[in-house]
Amino acid sequence: MEMIKVKNYEQLSERATNIILETVNNNEEPVLGLATGATPEKLYENLIEKNKNGEVTFKNVTTFNLDEYVGLSGEDENSYRYFMNKNLFDHIDIQKDKTFIPNGLAENLELECEAYEKLIKSHGKINVQILGLGLNGHIGFNEPGTPFDKRTHIVELDDVTRSANARFFERLEDVPTQALTMGIGTIMEAEKIILLVQGEKKSAILHEVVHGPVTENVPASILQNHPNVTIITDIDIK
Ligand code: F6R
Repeated sequence: MEMIKVKNYEQLSERATNIILETVNNNEEPVLGLATGATPEKLYENLIEKNKNGEVTFKNVTTFNLDEYVGLSGEDENSYRYFMNKNLFDHIDIQKDKTFIPNGLAENLELECEAYEKLIKSHGKINVQILGLGLNGHIGFNEPGTPFDKRTHIVELDDVTRSANARFFERLEDVPTQALTMGIGTIMEAEKIILLVQGEKKSAILHEVVHGPVTENVPASILQNHPNVTIITDIDIK
């Protein structure tokens, strides 16, 4: 794993922006894996700016997001589709029908997961996958204990994750209890993975991810086994 230590959130976002720009500019049909959450917000802001000033075009880009809540429509302000449209897709020249996010309203969620896997496969591979890190070590919504070989699947969200995400909802009870997520098996097939980790509160878990044993109790620890992972962080880690 390559570690890039930065001073602050601006630098973290800038480093991530440059990697995305390079990927998009060096591939004819780039495929990006994207995440929601607070960490990549500034990265997306930068991409909008770079697109507006002509440094990059997203015309040929396809995106696959990691996850979506079950039961929320794309118009719901708390859905990840809404987040992605608002924070990125609505402001760049990407073709919206090339932006994929699991459908949390699908009638048959199992079939939706299978279809999502097939869709990713039909695009070859994800060139760069952006990941954030959960306080419990989750990546996507792969909570501790999730088998490493899982593909896109339905998850029950644990209390740590629901409380961490409750800040976006009016009440904790409003946070969905299920989500659809790419599995770790899916994530590990990306050509390159960028893990963005910001803020001291993630220091202990990042340490476990990097130096601890590879264990399903710390989902992101599997990244130690991926051949091309870059961690960009403002945390001091030896
Ligand atoms: C979001 C996702 C999550 C977040 C993680 C960190 O699509 O898959 O794994 O990346 O919960 O969230 P933030 O960035 O809000 O700390």
